[in-house]
Amino acid sequence: MTNDRASFGSRLGVILAAAGSAVGLGNIWRFPYMTGENGGAAFILVYIGCVLLFGAPIMMAEFAIGRRARSNTARAFRTLAPDTKWNWVGRMEVLAGFLILSYYAVVAGWTLQYIVEAAAGNFSASAPGNYVESYNAFISNPWVPVLWTVLFLLGTHLIVVKGVEKGIERSSKVMMPMLFILLVVLAVCSLSLPGAGRGVEFLLKPDFSKVDGDVLLAAMGQAFFSLSLGMGCMCTYASYFKPDTDLPKTAFSVSVVDTLVAILSGLVIFPAAFSVDIRPDSGPGLLFVTLPNVFHQAFGGVPLVAGVLGVMFYILLALAALTSTISLHEVVTAYLHEEFSLSRRKAAGLVTAGCVVLGTFCSLSLGVGKDYTLFGMTLFDLFDYVTAKLMLPVSAFFVSVFMGWYLDRRIVCDELTNSGTIRLRVCRLVVFLLKFVAPIGIAFVFANELELI
Ligand code: PHE
Repeated sequence: MTNDRASFGSRLGVILAAAGSAVGLGNIWRFPYMTGENGGAAFILVYIGCVLLFGAPIMMAEFAIGRRARSNTARAFRTLAPDTKWNWVGRMEVLAGFLILSYYAVVAGWTLQYIVEAAAGNFSASAPGNYVESYNAFISNPWVPVLWTVLFLLGTHLIVVKGVEKGIERSSKVMMPMLFILLVVLAVCSLSLPGAGRGVEFLLKPDFSKVDGDVLLAAMGQAFFSLSLGMGCMCTYASYFKPDTDLPKTAFSVSVVDTLVAILSGLVIFPAAFSVDIRPDSGPGLLFVTLPNVFHQAFGGVPLVAGVLGVMFYILLALAALTSTISLHEVVTAYLHEEFSLSRRKAAGLVTAGCVVLGTFCSLSLGVGKDYTLFGMTLFDLFDYVTAKLMLPVSAFFVSVFMGWYLDRRIVCDELTNSGTIRLRVCRLVVFLLKFVAPIGIAFVFANELELI
């Protein structure tokens, strides 16, 4: 089997890579605005339920499939279920990865612009301070966001082709904790703003009357998106795991860290948003219009501090996004490289070129192309909807059925317990979740959304 895919140095490195893929814009950018659009605290509780009941077990399933088959996702299904239609699940996952990368890179590009803005001193007291206007002007500019998107994709491309994962791996060990600490600092600042209490209430006081089919689907989709599930990423990374990596423990730790970062981001965004009267349901721009206010209000009096912290934050955010775009790119590149006998370089080139084209359209759909909608959505929103709310949950459903019902129970338990050397009881619980809870739960959410029940 071709095994010249990028590989990781150490066991910790592999686990960090999985965490690096999971923690990204999904937690810091998407989670807050999804929470804002779906009613706050109740959404968060449903989200946590989805992570525990569906997310963590399905991550274990993807790990097990990847480590067992030692190959890209599509081939993994073929290896474990030869001559069946299961490899279509793998193919759908690869397609989802490609589509996500296309619009994810747009938002990743925005983080680069904000590094520049922070460095230019735009978040200090002397700046005009209307961050909603400047955000709107920026995303509807026909050139600048597109250039940043392309730049981000090229950066991702270079890393995937040159395989500098070792450098990323090493720096992740420092950057991830730094990002975490900075989020804690910003949360404290945000909480101390006048009127922050209403934001805290929004985050902590659940109003279950707001939970309907849309909220359930949004929470479930967000869980899969944030944990990088349903698109073969964890599967591909797990093909480099060592035989003694504890899969349930790794999946559980990644899920916990990922959820903590998301909630922490909520604590940064909502108190500040309420404090400066930004509506919690202002959509994808929420992070980008709210955060500059935190810098401005908390540190604006000392422009140097506002600038330095701002630059640091957006650099860390861009790097968190980069570890996610690498993982998305890697899935599609590995697939093209191994399935169509293309060289890695050619495969990566095709992925990057495709994403540059689609990413450009997604970016333009927020500005000059605003009026071209499909099913009432801009291209950007459509990509987000189709991937996070349809493709990822559908693939995750099939992954859980594959593990729970199709695959030989001995193989499943072998992987989950490392051939019986660790906790058998966990294996039974996970199999139960994969067999019944996850597929029935996912099907229920879909049926509910389609008003079938
Ligand atoms: N989980 C990543 C994030 O939260 C995004 C992602 C989704 C990455 C799917 C890979 C696969 O930012």
